[in-house]
Amino acid sequence: MDISGASALVTGGASGLGLATARRLADAGAVVTILDLPTSSGADRAAELGGSFAPADVTDPAQVAAAVAQAAVAGPLRVVVSCAGIAPPAKVLDREGRPTPVADFERLVRINLVGTYNVIGQAAAVIAASDPDPASGDRGVIVNTASVAAFDGQIGQPAYAASKGAVHAMTLPIARELARYGIRVSTIAPGIMETPMLKGLPQAAQDSLGEQVPYPPRLGRPDEYASLVLEIVRNGYLNGETIRLDGAIRMAPR
Ligand SMILES: NC(=O)c1ccc[n+]([C@@H]2O[C@H](COP(=O)([O-])OP(=O)(O)OC[C@H]3O[C@@H](n4cnc5c(N)ncnc54)[C@H](O)[C@@H]3O)[C@@H](O)[C@H]2O)c1
Repeated sequence: MDISGASALVTGGASGLGLATARRLADAGAVVTILDLPTSSGADRAAELGGSFAPADVTDPAQVAAAVAQAAVAGPLRVVVSCAGIAPPAKVLDREGRPTPVADFERLVRINLVGTYNVIGQAAAVIAASDPDPASGDRGVIVNTASVAAFDGQIGQPAYAASKGAVHAMTLPIARELARYGIRVSTIAPGIMETPMLKGLPQAAQDSLGEQVPYPPRLGRPDEYASLVLEIVRNGYLNGETIRLDGAIRMAPR
């Protein structure tokens, strides 16, 4: 699908994988709306890209609906990429053998899973009511972000793995449902990517993580994620699939 002049919405677009994606989409001629928390640098990043900033929390249906409406003003909304997410680790049991707070588990699942679902629903309603792209017949493409933790979650990742496993699991049923509207839905499951989240670690820890990747033995680059988003958008036969982007890493238990 050609996205020149089309509108694209990127959640979590103020940082990391989302920001790299917003840049690639803007380079491809799309008008980009960055949805991110009001406290983020989304306004500055959007201004750099000639796009707009929609301050919102992905878990809030009214805020996400407003962001989608804002994106749809810029042109036909064709691309929606969910990168908003958090990854605080928490084991089932703490050091004293007590269960860790369920509220922490719920918060993570709420942002990563319910937030992604919320974005899909609000965006699909608008895209389904739009005219298809005349060249491809597609109305739009939705790309979600899971993680390799969906398949090989580590100790301390029950909530994160559960949230990302569910993003993977809902990809096919949603792609099947939205097929009748000409909307494709795919998910990327990144490995260890060099984003602000990872750059906070000491260099030695980053190097050690990179060496665990079979090939290439380094962290993934945000632009490599963004490049895959562009391919998913362009390749009209990619649908209903979760694609690992991980240098063949399979995560160890810890
Ligand atoms: N970095 C990695 O190694 C890696 C690996 C696998 C999957 N992922 C996933 O990729 C996605 C992007 O991660 P990243 O590394 O770019 O992280 P990041 O922290 O750089 O960016 C995440 C963005 O999401 C925003 N965000 C958080 N909660 C939000 C909410 N409730 N509403 C709106 N925006 C919110 C943050 O403000 C931030 O700008 C996440 O879903 C993450 O789980 C990352």
